[in-house]
Amino acid sequence: KSSVSVTHCKVVTGFVFLFSSAQGGVRDCGTVWQPCLSFYRQTAWLDPGGPQPLIKECPGQSFQAWRLMLYLKSSLSDDDDILMEPYLQSWDQLLNFMEALGTMVGFFSQKVKEKVVLIRELSLKHSAEAHWKRGPVYRSVRSMVEAELKMGLVNFSRHTDSGCRTLLRLHRSLLWLKLMLEGLAEGPDADGQYKTPGELSRDAYKVALAPHHPWVLRQAAELVFLALPERQYFLQLVCVQNQQEATPVLRVIIHALMLVHTRTQRILAEHGMLELP
Ligand SMILES: *[C@@H]1O[C@H](CO)[C@@H](O)[C@H](O)[C@H]1NC(C)=O
Repeated sequence: KSSVSVTHCKVVTGFVFLFSSAQGGVRDCGTVWQPCLSFYRQTAWLDPGGPQPLIKECPGQSFQAWRLMLYLKSSLSDDDDILMEPYLQSWDQLLNFMEALGTMVGFFSQKVKEKVVLIRELSLKHSAEAHWKRGPVYRSVRSMVEAELKMGLVNFSRHTDSGCRTLLRLHRSLLWLKLMLEGLAEGPDADGQYKTPGELSRDAYKVALAPHHPWVLRQAAELVFLALPERQYFLQLVCVQNQQEATPVLRVIIHALMLVHTRTQRILAEHGMLELP
């Protein structure tokens, strides 16, 4: 038990280190649109307490947790905003994660992918037309919200293809994934039983997505949960052998997801956009 908390302590130290250096890294390495990959890979991900990087490259799979972390971090701008391109790149990684979970999850990941594509299309379309006061319209969540409101793209009573309502869907799905990973990071219950990934995703779904989904979609989701792979399979996706190794890695990912989620939530809430149809 004590070795777990020592590891965890080291992880937290590494995380703080990472965070302070990552902020400088974005500024030093040119633009946020093209973050300095080599910088992160060579230095920031090294756990200062040991020679091993905390999050390893996982050969032979498209989902790379270190990439996810890189993009999540890059999306947090200094001015309390979320930068859109790294946010969408985070989603590219999360989509790789979801797609690794089997064909049934494709039902969900396809919907997510459509939303990522739509925001990128809107970004191209409207960036050509107009420049917002702080650069391109879809540079960040805040600039998108303000510009789309001004352009009359957002309607609070009916469905329009706005970036805002699309982002809200992604935002809810991000919470679902975060809650599911939190479940995976947890230890066993009082009887020594671990919840299955299917149970964990169902619990997370009830909180994050079910309140916003119609009945048919909720039924389809049930089938997805039944088809989810075993816990061990999830652990392999973050390149760890067992639960003890998984927990600190998952906590680092969860923390980054939480920072991005909290900030997005605040921006959407400030504009009354948490229930956009
Ligand atoms: C939203 O849509 C309704 C119905 O089409 C319309 O009457 C209203 O003016 C729209 N509001 C905005 C802000 O565009």
